[in-house]
Amino acid sequence: MDSILVTGNGPLSGSIPIAGAKNACLALMPATLLSDEPLTLTNAPRLSDIKTMTALLESLGGEVSRMQDGKVLALSSHDLTSSWADYEIVRKMRASNLVLGPLLARTGQAQVSLPGGCAIGARPMDLHIEGLEALGAEIELKDGYLHAKTAGGRLKGAQFEMRFASVGATENIVMAATLAKGTTVLTNAAREPEIVDLVKCLRAMGAQIEGEGTSRIEIQGVDRLHGATHQVVADRIELGTYMLAPAIAGGEVECIGGSLDLLGAFVEKLDEAGISVEATEKGVKVRRRGDRIKAVNVRTEVFPGFPTDLQAQMMALLCTAEGTSMLEETIFENRFMHAPELTRMGARIEVHGGQATVHGVERLKGAPVMATDLRASVSLILAGLAAEGETVVSRVYHLDRGYESVEQKLSACGAKIERIKE
Ligand code: UD1
Repeated sequence: MDSILVTGNGPLSGSIPIAGAKNACLALMPATLLSDEPLTLTNAPRLSDIKTMTALLESLGGEVSRMQDGKVLALSSHDLTSSWADYEIVRKMRASNLVLGPLLARTGQAQVSLPGGCAIGARPMDLHIEGLEALGAEIELKDGYLHAKTAGGRLKGAQFEMRFASVGATENIVMAATLAKGTTVLTNAAREPEIVDLVKCLRAMGAQIEGEGTSRIEIQGVDRLHGATHQVVADRIELGTYMLAPAIAGGEVECIGGSLDLLGAFVEKLDEAGISVEATEKGVKVRRRGDRIKAVNVRTEVFPGFPTDLQAQMMALLCTAEGTSMLEETIFENRFMHAPELTRMGARIEVHGGQATVHGVERLKGAPVMATDLRASVSLILAGLAAEGETVVSRVYHLDRGYESVEQKLSACGAKIERIKE
Protein backbone atom coordinates (compact mmCIF):
# COMPACT_ATOMS: atom_id res chain seq x y z
CA MET A 1 0.00 0.00 0.00
CA ASP A 2 1.36 3.41 -0.96
CA SER A 3 1.76 6.23 1.52
CA ILE A 4 2.26 9.98 1.18
CA LEU A 5 5.10 11.89 2.83
CA VAL A 6 4.41 15.57 3.53
CA THR A 7 7.01 17.89 5.04
CA GLY A 8 5.80 21.24 6.41
CA ASN A 9 7.36 23.75 4.06
CA GLY A 10 5.81 27.18 4.58
CA PRO A 11 3.46 29.23 2.42
CA LEU A 12 2.12 27.98 -0.91
CA SER A 13 1.98 29.94 -4.12
CA GLY A 14 0.63 28.99 -7.53
CA SER A 15 -2.42 27.55 -9.20
CA ILE A 16 -4.21 24.21 -8.98
CA PRO A 17 -6.48 22.81 -11.72
CA ILE A 18 -9.79 21.44 -10.45
CA ALA A 19 -10.98 18.20 -12.06
CA GLY A 20 -14.51 17.15 -12.98
CA ALA A 21 -16.63 16.07 -10.02
CA LYS A 22 -16.26 12.46 -8.92
CA ASN A 23 -19.73 12.39 -7.40
CA ALA A 24 -21.32 13.91 -10.50
CA CYS A 25 -19.50 11.49 -12.80
CA LEU A 26 -20.55 8.49 -10.70
CA ALA A 27 -24.21 9.43 -11.28
CA LEU A 28 -23.72 10.42 -14.93
CA MET A 29 -22.08 7.14 -15.94
CA PRO A 30 -25.12 4.97 -15.00
CA ALA A 31 -27.32 7.35 -17.02
CA THR A 32 -25.93 5.51 -20.06
CA LEU A 33 -28.10 2.54 -19.01
CA LEU A 34 -31.20 4.57 -19.88
CA SER A 35 -30.51 4.63 -23.62
CA ASP A 36 -29.26 2.36 -26.38
CA GLU A 37 -27.40 5.28 -27.93
CA PRO A 38 -23.89 6.45 -26.90
CA LEU A 39 -23.24 8.90 -24.07
CA THR A 40 -19.99 10.87 -24.02
CA LEU A 41 -18.76 12.52 -20.82
CA THR A 42 -16.00 15.13 -21.05
CA ASN A 43 -13.99 16.55 -18.14
CA ALA A 44 -14.16 13.18 -16.35
CA PRO A 45 -11.86 12.82 -13.33
CA ARG A 46 -9.23 10.08 -13.40
CA LEU A 47 -9.90 8.18 -10.21
CA SER A 48 -10.19 4.65 -8.93
CA ASP A 49 -13.92 5.12 -8.20
CA ILE A 50 -14.46 5.84 -11.91
CA LYS A 51 -12.67 2.57 -12.71
CA THR A 52 -14.98 0.77 -10.29
CA MET A 53 -18.08 2.21 -12.01
CA THR A 54 -16.52 1.27 -15.37
CA ALA A 55 -16.11 -2.32 -14.20
CA LEU A 56 -19.71 -2.39 -12.99
CA LEU A 57 -21.14 -1.07 -16.27
CA GLU A 58 -18.99 -3.54 -18.21
CA SER A 59 -20.29 -6.39 -16.05
CA LEU A 60 -23.79 -5.43 -17.25
CA GLY A 61 -22.75 -5.57 -20.89
CA GLY A 62 -22.02 -1.86 -21.25
CA GLU A 63 -18.95 -0.46 -22.97
CA VAL A 64 -16.75 2.28 -21.57
CA SER A 65 -13.85 3.63 -23.65
CA ARG A 66 -11.40 6.06 -22.11
CA MET A 67 -10.12 8.76 -24.44
CA GLN A 68 -7.77 11.71 -23.99
CA ASP A 69 -5.94 9.98 -21.16
CA GLY A 70 -9.20 9.18 -19.37
CA LYS A 71 -10.63 12.71 -19.42
CA VAL A 72 -13.27 11.68 -21.93
CA LEU A 73 -15.46 8.63 -21.39
CA ALA A 74 -17.41 7.16 -24.29
CA LEU A 75 -20.16 4.98 -22.89
CA SER A 76 -22.59 2.66 -24.61
CA SER A 77 -25.32 0.42 -23.24
CA HIS A 78 -26.52 -0.75 -26.63
CA ASP A 79 -26.26 -4.43 -25.81
CA LEU A 80 -26.98 -4.94 -22.14
CA THR A 81 -26.45 -8.57 -21.16
CA SER A 82 -27.15 -8.53 -17.43
CA SER A 83 -29.07 -6.67 -14.73
CA TRP A 84 -27.04 -8.16 -11.86
CA ALA A 85 -24.81 -5.72 -9.92
CA ASP A 86 -22.52 -8.08 -8.06
CA TYR A 87 -21.51 -7.73 -4.42
CA GLU A 88 -17.82 -8.00 -5.37
CA ILE A 89 -18.07 -4.63 -7.16
CA VAL A 90 -20.82 -2.94 -5.13
CA ARG A 91 -19.05 -3.52 -1.80
CA LYS A 92 -16.09 -1.43 -3.03
CA MET A 93 -18.20 1.65 -3.67
CA ARG A 94 -21.65 2.63 -2.43
CA ALA A 95 -22.35 4.73 -5.54
CA SER A 96 -22.68 1.41 -7.42
CA ASN A 97 -26.29 1.52 -6.20
CA LEU A 98 -26.93 4.23 -8.83
CA VAL A 99 -27.42 1.53 -11.48
CA LEU A 100 -30.63 0.40 -9.75
CA GLY A 101 -33.00 3.12 -11.02
CA PRO A 102 -31.73 3.22 -14.62
CA LEU A 103 -31.59 -0.59 -15.01
CA LEU A 104 -35.10 -0.92 -13.69
CA ALA A 105 -36.42 1.82 -15.96
CA ARG A 106 -34.77 0.46 -19.11
CA THR A 107 -35.02 -3.31 -18.65
CA GLY A 108 -37.88 -3.67 -16.15
CA GLN A 109 -35.67 -5.48 -13.65
CA ALA A 110 -32.49 -5.19 -11.60
CA GLN A 111 -30.67 -7.23 -8.98
CA VAL A 112 -28.33 -4.99 -7.04
CA SER A 113 -26.28 -6.04 -4.03
CA LEU A 114 -26.73 -3.96 -0.89
CA PRO A 115 -23.52 -2.01 -0.40
CA GLY A 116 -22.93 -3.15 3.18
CA GLY A 117 -21.46 -1.07 5.98
CA CYS A 118 -19.01 1.66 5.27
CA ALA A 119 -16.53 3.37 7.54
CA ILE A 120 -18.48 6.60 7.99
CA GLY A 121 -21.87 5.11 8.85
CA ALA A 122 -24.61 2.62 8.10
CA ARG A 123 -25.90 4.32 4.91
CA PRO A 124 -29.05 2.30 4.26
CA MET A 125 -31.00 2.21 0.97
CA ASP A 126 -34.53 2.65 2.34
CA LEU A 127 -35.16 5.99 0.61
CA HIS A 128 -34.07 4.63 -2.79
CA ILE A 129 -36.39 1.64 -2.31
CA GLU A 130 -39.39 3.68 -1.15
CA GLY A 131 -39.03 6.09 -4.06
CA LEU A 132 -38.80 3.35 -6.68
CA GLU A 133 -41.71 1.49 -5.06
CA ALA A 134 -43.76 4.69 -5.36
CA LEU A 135 -43.06 4.45 -9.11
CA GLY A 136 -44.54 0.96 -9.12
CA ALA A 137 -41.43 -1.18 -8.65
CA GLU A 138 -41.65 -4.38 -6.63
CA ILE A 139 -38.52 -4.77 -4.56
CA GLU A 140 -37.54 -7.70 -2.41
CA LEU A 141 -34.40 -8.33 -0.38
CA LYS A 142 -32.98 -11.81 -0.97
CA ASP A 143 -29.49 -13.11 -0.09
CA GLY A 144 -28.10 -9.59 0.36
CA TYR A 145 -29.44 -8.43 -3.01
CA LEU A 146 -32.29 -6.09 -3.87
CA HIS A 147 -34.39 -7.87 -6.49
CA ALA A 148 -36.42 -5.21 -8.26
CA LYS A 149 -38.92 -5.55 -11.07
CA THR A 150 -41.67 -3.49 -12.59
CA ALA A 151 -45.17 -4.87 -12.79
CA GLY A 152 -46.30 -4.54 -16.40
CA GLY A 153 -42.77 -3.78 -17.61
CA ARG A 154 -42.81 -0.01 -17.18
CA LEU A 155 -42.57 2.29 -14.16
CA LYS A 156 -45.42 4.74 -13.55
CA GLY A 157 -45.05 8.40 -12.64
CA ALA A 158 -46.05 9.27 -9.06
CA GLN A 159 -45.83 11.89 -6.34
CA PHE A 160 -43.14 11.07 -3.78
CA GLU A 161 -41.90 13.05 -0.81
CA MET A 162 -38.52 11.96 0.56
CA ARG A 163 -38.17 11.87 4.35
CA PHE A 164 -34.60 13.12 3.98
CA ALA A 165 -33.07 14.85 0.97
CA SER A 166 -30.72 12.00 0.03
CA VAL A 167 -28.40 12.72 -2.89
CA GLY A 168 -28.21 9.14 -4.17
CA ALA A 169 -31.93 8.44 -3.76
CA THR A 170 -32.79 11.64 -5.66
CA GLU A 171 -30.46 10.55 -8.48
CA ASN A 172 -31.89 7.04 -8.66
CA ILE A 173 -35.52 8.21 -8.60
CA VAL A 174 -34.98 11.00 -11.15
CA MET A 175 -33.20 8.63 -13.56
CA ALA A 176 -35.90 5.99 -13.17
CA ALA A 177 -38.70 8.53 -13.67
CA THR A 178 -37.31 9.74 -17.01
CA LEU A 179 -38.65 6.59 -18.70
CA ALA A 180 -41.74 6.10 -16.52
CA LYS A 181 -45.24 6.49 -17.93
CA GLY A 182 -46.64 9.84 -16.84
CA THR A 183 -45.45 12.55 -14.49
CA THR A 184 -43.37 12.18 -11.35
CA VAL A 185 -43.15 14.91 -8.74
CA LEU A 186 -40.35 14.46 -6.23
CA THR A 187 -40.50 16.72 -3.19
CA ASN A 188 -37.83 17.28 -0.54
CA ALA A 189 -35.40 16.35 -3.32
CA ALA A 190 -31.66 16.92 -2.83
CA ARG A 191 -30.41 20.21 -4.32
CA GLU A 192 -26.70 19.43 -4.67
CA PRO A 193 -24.88 20.70 -7.79
CA GLU A 194 -24.30 17.06 -8.81
CA ILE A 195 -28.08 16.64 -9.16
CA VAL A 196 -28.25 19.75 -11.33
CA ASP A 197 -25.45 18.34 -13.49
CA LEU A 198 -27.18 14.98 -13.84
CA VAL A 199 -30.44 16.65 -14.89
CA LYS A 200 -28.61 18.75 -17.50
CA CYS A 201 -27.21 15.56 -18.99
CA LEU A 202 -30.55 13.73 -18.87
CA ARG A 203 -32.18 16.70 -20.57
CA ALA A 204 -29.53 16.57 -23.30
CA MET A 205 -30.54 12.90 -23.70
CA GLY A 206 -34.15 13.96 -24.27
CA ALA A 207 -35.59 13.77 -20.74
CA GLN A 208 -38.22 16.28 -19.68
CA ILE A 209 -37.32 17.55 -16.23
CA GLU A 210 -37.89 20.79 -14.34
CA GLY A 211 -36.90 22.10 -10.94
CA GLU A 212 -33.36 20.73 -10.51
CA GLY A 213 -31.50 22.67 -7.82
CA THR A 214 -34.79 23.15 -5.93
CA SER A 215 -36.46 20.72 -3.55
CA ARG A 216 -39.27 19.98 -6.07
CA ILE A 217 -38.30 18.14 -9.23
CA GLU A 218 -40.92 17.31 -11.85
CA ILE A 219 -40.23 14.67 -14.47
CA GLN A 220 -42.45 14.01 -17.43
CA GLY A 221 -41.66 10.45 -18.54
CA VAL A 222 -40.74 9.86 -22.19
CA ASP A 223 -40.69 6.66 -24.28
CA ARG A 224 -36.96 6.68 -24.96
CA LEU A 225 -33.80 8.69 -24.39
CA HIS A 226 -31.13 9.27 -27.02
CA GLY A 227 -27.36 9.83 -27.09
CA ALA A 228 -25.66 13.00 -25.85
CA THR A 229 -22.35 14.63 -24.95
CA HIS A 230 -22.07 16.26 -21.56
CA GLN A 231 -19.28 18.08 -19.68
CA VAL A 232 -18.94 17.00 -16.04
CA VAL A 233 -19.27 19.92 -13.59
CA ALA A 234 -16.18 20.95 -11.55
CA ASP A 235 -15.58 19.04 -8.33
CA ARG A 236 -16.73 21.35 -5.54
CA ILE A 237 -15.20 19.10 -2.87
CA GLU A 238 -11.81 19.05 -4.57
CA LEU A 239 -12.15 22.82 -4.98
CA GLY A 240 -12.96 23.34 -1.29
CA THR A 241 -10.11 21.01 -0.29
CA TYR A 242 -7.49 22.95 -2.26
CA MET A 243 -8.93 26.28 -1.08
CA LEU A 244 -8.03 25.09 2.41
CA ALA A 245 -4.39 24.43 1.46
CA PRO A 246 -3.24 28.10 1.52
CA ALA A 247 -5.63 28.74 4.40
CA ILE A 248 -3.65 26.17 6.41
CA ALA A 249 -0.13 26.64 5.07
CA GLY A 250 -0.31 30.36 4.27
CA GLY A 251 0.37 31.98 0.90
CA GLU A 252 -1.99 32.39 -2.04
CA VAL A 253 -3.41 29.79 -4.42
CA GLU A 254 -5.72 30.14 -7.39
CA CYS A 255 -7.94 27.15 -8.04
CA ILE A 256 -8.62 26.98 -11.75
CA GLY A 257 -11.94 25.68 -12.97
CA GLY A 258 -14.29 26.01 -10.03
CA SER A 259 -16.78 28.67 -8.98
CA LEU A 260 -18.05 29.97 -5.64
CA ASP A 261 -21.71 29.19 -6.32
CA LEU A 262 -20.82 25.49 -5.99
CA LEU A 263 -19.68 25.97 -2.41
CA GLY A 264 -22.63 27.40 -0.43
CA ALA A 265 -21.99 27.98 3.27
CA PHE A 266 -18.36 26.83 3.03
CA VAL A 267 -17.28 30.22 1.66
CA GLU A 268 -18.96 32.12 4.53
CA LYS A 269 -17.16 29.94 7.07
CA LEU A 270 -13.79 30.60 5.43
CA ASP A 271 -14.47 34.33 5.56
CA GLU A 272 -15.43 34.08 9.23
CA ALA A 273 -12.17 32.21 9.91
CA GLY A 274 -10.17 35.04 8.35
CA ILE A 275 -9.55 33.66 4.86
CA SER A 276 -9.91 35.91 1.85
CA VAL A 277 -11.74 34.27 -1.05
CA GLU A 278 -12.07 35.98 -4.40
CA ALA A 279 -13.78 34.87 -7.60
CA THR A 280 -11.44 35.30 -10.58
CA GLU A 281 -11.94 34.93 -14.30
CA LYS A 282 -10.54 31.41 -14.22
CA GLY A 283 -11.74 30.22 -10.82
CA VAL A 284 -11.19 31.12 -7.18
CA LYS A 285 -8.22 32.78 -5.43
CA VAL A 286 -7.61 32.16 -1.73
CA ARG A 287 -5.23 33.67 0.82
CA ARG A 288 -5.02 33.95 4.58
CA ARG A 289 -5.73 37.50 5.83
CA GLY A 290 -3.96 37.52 9.19
CA ASP A 291 -1.30 35.46 10.89
CA ARG A 292 -3.64 33.14 12.68
CA ILE A 293 -6.97 31.55 11.72
CA LYS A 294 -9.99 32.42 13.90
CA ALA A 295 -12.04 29.66 15.52
CA VAL A 296 -15.47 29.11 13.95
CA ASN A 297 -18.40 26.78 14.57
CA VAL A 298 -19.45 24.47 11.76
CA ARG A 299 -22.55 22.31 11.29
CA THR A 300 -22.76 20.03 8.28
CA GLU A 301 -25.99 20.22 6.31
CA VAL A 302 -27.41 19.34 2.93
CA PHE A 303 -26.65 21.80 0.10
CA PRO A 304 -26.31 24.77 0.26
CA GLY A 305 -25.27 24.15 3.88
CA PHE A 306 -21.72 23.25 4.88
CA PRO A 307 -20.88 19.96 3.06
CA THR A 308 -20.11 16.90 5.14
CA ASP A 309 -17.45 16.03 2.54
CA LEU A 310 -15.44 19.12 3.63
CA GLN A 311 -15.84 18.63 7.38
CA ALA A 312 -12.59 16.68 7.89
CA GLN A 313 -10.56 19.22 5.90
CA MET A 314 -12.15 22.10 7.83
CA MET A 315 -11.22 20.39 11.07
CA ALA A 316 -7.60 20.24 9.88
CA LEU A 317 -7.74 24.04 9.44
CA LEU A 318 -9.34 24.69 12.82
CA CYS A 319 -6.69 22.64 14.67
CA THR A 320 -4.40 25.68 14.55
CA ALA A 321 -7.06 28.40 14.92
CA GLU A 322 -7.02 30.92 17.73
CA GLY A 323 -9.71 29.78 20.20
CA THR A 324 -12.14 26.89 20.36
CA SER A 325 -14.27 25.65 17.46
CA MET A 326 -17.28 23.34 17.56
CA LEU A 327 -17.98 21.00 14.67
CA GLU A 328 -21.27 19.21 14.38
CA GLU A 329 -21.75 16.36 11.90
CA THR A 330 -25.43 15.85 11.05
CA ILE A 331 -25.26 13.78 7.83
CA PHE A 332 -23.21 10.73 8.84
CA GLU A 333 -23.10 9.18 12.30
CA ASN A 334 -19.43 8.18 12.39
CA ARG A 335 -17.46 10.80 10.54
CA PHE A 336 -14.80 11.97 12.97
CA MET A 337 -12.26 9.20 12.44
CA HIS A 338 -9.68 11.77 11.38
CA ALA A 339 -9.85 13.34 14.87
CA PRO A 340 -7.65 10.76 16.65
CA GLU A 341 -5.17 10.92 13.76
CA LEU A 342 -5.01 14.73 13.96
CA THR A 343 -4.54 14.33 17.72
CA ARG A 344 -1.42 12.26 16.96
CA MET A 345 -0.12 15.39 15.25
CA GLY A 346 -0.66 17.50 18.39
CA ALA A 347 -4.24 18.70 17.81
CA ARG A 348 -6.52 19.06 20.85
CA ILE A 349 -9.86 17.56 19.89
CA GLU A 350 -12.66 16.07 21.99
CA VAL A 351 -15.36 14.07 20.23
CA HIS A 352 -18.76 13.45 21.83
CA GLY A 353 -21.09 11.59 19.46
CA GLY A 354 -21.80 13.85 16.52
CA GLN A 355 -19.94 16.83 17.96
CA ALA A 356 -16.27 17.67 18.11
CA THR A 357 -14.63 20.45 20.09
CA VAL A 358 -11.35 21.66 18.64
CA HIS A 359 -9.09 23.73 20.91
CA GLY A 360 -6.69 25.51 18.58
CA VAL A 361 -2.97 24.97 19.13
CA GLU A 362 -0.22 27.12 17.68
CA ARG A 363 1.30 24.47 15.47
CA LEU A 364 0.90 20.80 14.63
CA LYS A 365 3.81 18.35 14.56
CA GLY A 366 4.37 15.77 11.85
CA ALA A 367 3.62 12.14 12.72
CA PRO A 368 2.83 8.81 11.06
CA VAL A 369 -0.97 8.76 10.59
CA MET A 370 -3.49 6.54 8.90
CA ALA A 371 -6.14 7.47 6.35
CA THR A 372 -9.48 6.02 7.43
CA ASP A 373 -11.66 7.24 4.57
CA LEU A 374 -11.48 9.42 1.49
CA ARG A 375 -11.95 12.90 2.98
CA ALA A 376 -10.12 11.99 6.20
CA SER A 377 -7.05 11.07 4.15
CA VAL A 378 -6.83 14.47 2.47
CA SER A 379 -7.42 16.27 5.78
CA LEU A 380 -4.25 14.64 7.12
CA ILE A 381 -2.29 15.78 4.08
CA LEU A 382 -3.57 19.35 4.54
CA ALA A 383 -2.61 19.23 8.23
CA GLY A 384 0.85 17.98 7.24
CA LEU A 385 1.42 21.01 4.98
CA ALA A 386 1.72 23.30 8.00
CA ALA A 387 3.02 20.83 10.58
CA GLU A 388 6.55 20.88 11.87
CA GLY A 389 8.55 18.02 10.36
CA GLU A 390 7.37 14.98 8.46
CA THR A 391 3.91 13.47 8.25
CA VAL A 392 3.48 10.07 6.64
CA VAL A 393 -0.11 9.27 5.66
CA SER A 394 -0.60 5.55 5.10
CA ARG A 395 -3.47 3.71 3.36
CA VAL A 396 -3.73 6.33 0.63
CA TYR A 397 -5.84 4.05 -1.54
CA HIS A 398 -8.69 5.95 0.10
CA LEU A 399 -7.25 9.16 -1.33
CA ASP A 400 -6.94 7.72 -4.83
CA ARG A 401 -10.70 7.12 -4.88
CA GLY A 402 -11.35 10.86 -5.01
CA TYR A 403 -8.26 12.99 -5.70
CA GLU A 404 -6.23 12.78 -8.90
CA SER A 405 -2.52 13.74 -8.83
CA VAL A 406 -2.67 15.29 -5.37
CA GLU A 407 1.15 15.25 -5.01
CA GLN A 408 1.67 17.00 -8.37
CA LYS A 409 -1.04 19.60 -7.72
CA LEU A 410 0.31 20.58 -4.30
CA SER A 411 4.01 20.40 -5.17
CA ALA A 412 3.38 22.76 -8.12
CA CYS A 413 2.51 25.34 -5.42
CA GLY A 414 5.70 24.71 -3.42
CA ALA A 415 4.52 22.00 -1.04
CA LYS A 416 6.98 19.24 -0.15
CA ILE A 417 4.97 16.14 -0.81
CA GLU A 418 5.77 12.79 -2.37
CA ARG A 419 4.26 9.35 -2.77
CA ILE A 420 6.14 6.44 -1.29
CA LYS A 421 5.39 3.37 -3.38
CA GLU A 422 5.38 0.08 -1.60
C1 UD1 B 1 -23.47 11.37 -1.58
C2 UD1 B 1 -22.02 11.58 -1.93
C3 UD1 B 1 -21.18 11.62 -0.65
C4 UD1 B 1 -21.72 12.68 0.30
C5 UD1 B 1 -23.21 12.47 0.54
C6 UD1 B 1 -23.83 13.58 1.38
C7 UD1 B 1 -21.88 10.47 -4.06
C8 UD1 B 1 -21.34 9.35 -4.87
N1 UD1 B 1 -21.58 10.48 -2.78
O1 UD1 B 1 -23.58 10.11 -0.94
O2 UD1 B 1 -19.84 11.93 -1.00
O3 UD1 B 1 -21.04 12.60 1.54
O4 UD1 B 1 -23.92 12.43 -0.72
O5 UD1 B 1 -23.64 14.82 0.76
O6 UD1 B 1 -22.52 11.37 -4.59
N2 UD1 B 1 -29.68 7.63 3.91
C9 UD1 B 1 -30.67 6.83 4.41
N3 UD1 B 1 -31.39 6.07 3.54
C10 UD1 B 1 -31.18 6.08 2.21
C11 UD1 B 1 -30.15 6.90 1.69
C12 UD1 B 1 -29.41 7.66 2.58
O7 UD1 B 1 -30.89 6.81 5.63
O8 UD1 B 1 -31.87 5.36 1.47
C13 UD1 B 1 -28.84 8.45 4.83
C14 UD1 B 1 -27.39 8.02 4.82
O9 UD1 B 1 -27.17 6.94 5.70
C15 UD1 B 1 -26.70 9.27 5.28
C16 UD1 B 1 -27.57 10.37 4.71
O10 UD1 B 1 -28.82 9.77 4.39
O11 UD1 B 1 -26.68 9.36 6.68
C17 UD1 B 1 -27.00 11.05 3.48
O12 UD1 B 1 -26.89 10.12 2.46
P1 UD1 B 1 -27.04 10.47 0.91
O13 UD1 B 1 -27.41 11.90 0.72
O14 UD1 B 1 -27.89 9.42 0.30
O15 UD1 B 1 -25.57 10.28 0.45
P2 UD1 B 1 -25.00 9.41 -0.75
O16 UD1 B 1 -25.83 9.64 -1.96
O17 UD1 B 1 -24.74 8.03 -0.31
